[in-house]
Amino acid sequence: MSHEGYHEEVALLPEPTKDLHRALLSLMEELEAIDWYQQRADASKDEALKAVMLHNRNEEVEHAMMTLEWIRRRDAKFDETARTYLFTDGPITEIEDAAKAAGGAPAPGGPSTKKTAAEAASLAIGSLRITP
Ligand SMILES: [Fe+2]
Repeated sequence: MSHEGYHEEVALLPEPTKDLHRALLSLMEELEAIDWYQQRADASKDEALKAVMLHNRNEEVEHAMMTLEWIRRRDAKFDETARTYLFTDGPITEIEDAAKAAGGAPAPGGPSTKKTAAEAASLAIGSLRITP
């Protein structure tokens, strides 16, 4: 049902919050499906069924990433955080400190003379770098 998961009166919520709710629920469902298909593929002794399960799992990864990208484009904090952590190398727990030390992330959606958090992190920690 479309009202599933709301924690406040739906009438009090603006449309962008309702759309974000839809997207977050969809993302959770896609991630759960990835987990289930992976387990089914691993558990099956039938190679053809295993192949179908892995195919389906990979389709769910695509669905999850499409939904995550939709969320990133509409939520400034997701955008900022994705730019900080995604497509980096090196210790994940050190990225935030490195980014802050080097000037932080630019305002989402706008040009900036500052380095992105990921760029800053890649410069501040030798082992971190951006992968295309
Ligand atoms: Fe899906």
